[in-house]
Amino acid sequence: MRKICIINQKGGVGKTTTTVNLAIGLARKKRRVLILDLDAQGNVSICLGKKGEKTMYDLLVNKVPMEECIVNIEKNVDAIASDGKLAEAETILMGRPNRERILSRVMENVEEDEYDFIILDCPPSMGLMSQNALLFADEALIPSSTEALSFVGLQKILEVIDETNTLFDHDLVVAGILPTMYDRRNKICVQILGQMENEYNGMTLDPIRINSKLIEAPGHSKTIFDYARSSRGAVDYRKLVEFVLKND
Ligand SMILES: Nc1ncnc2c1ncn2[C@@H]1O[C@H](COP(=O)(O)OP(=O)(O)OP(=O)(O)O)[C@@H](O)[C@H]1O
Ligand SMILES: [Mg+2]
Repeated sequence: MRKICIINQKGGVGKTTTTVNLAIGLARKKRRVLILDLDAQGNVSICLGKKGEKTMYDLLVNKVPMEECIVNIEKNVDAIASDGKLAEAETILMGRPNRERILSRVMENVEEDEYDFIILDCPPSMGLMSQNALLFADEALIPSSTEALSFVGLQKILEVIDETNTLFDHDLVVAGILPTMYDRRNKICVQILGQMENEYNGMTLDPIRINSKLIEAPGHSKTIFDYARSSRGAVDYRKLVEFVLKND
């Protein structure tokens, strides 16, 4: 079972888009996938059009058994959704002992062979939810849009991962930096992608190109594979799925 967190403290860089399309892409390759939404914006369930009665809040705060919080999305895909209530969880859980490992503890009963992948969608902040994700996951995938401010933020998230590993004696591996919203006609995008490839050589993956179909798909509660299967977005996310499976 591989646990991959999709993380970047910068907002709007494509974390949720990547979570949803990677997860469904893996499931269509016959892998069993569990999606965990750790963001109070609850965008995963908006993208997938399904949300159970119990959410991540109940799992973390009320210790409701995981099985009760899971909603089936489609064959081979389950999810634990979130909503605005999760924002309260940060405050409540702040006072709990070993607060950075609450997610790891509540997920302890998941059998190793129950899922092939657990994919975590993180919020755009380095608060308690992201800390819990980092300590639960064994791989991090970092979407980063191809613009100057995102490039600056990359250094920061890599430092946080290093510090977390040292402080908690953890060995989270960076699976890759995923350049997103790449437009080859835009000079800045080309320049930033070049910088990413130079600075993070061997870590930078093939970019996800800018694509309006990726923006439209969540409005139809569809992944890119169902909304526009031949679009650039679908082609690029299929490539990401292949990359993740190559390391399997
Ligand atoms: N490759 C892309 N091309 C065009 N638009 C994209 C692309 N990827 C994501 N988007 C759009 O950009 C917006 C932000 O994407 P998304 O919600 O996935 O980012 P996020 O990092 O999860 O944001 P947040 O930090 O708020 O959780 C959305 O409207 C999404 O549809
Ligand atoms: Mg998001």
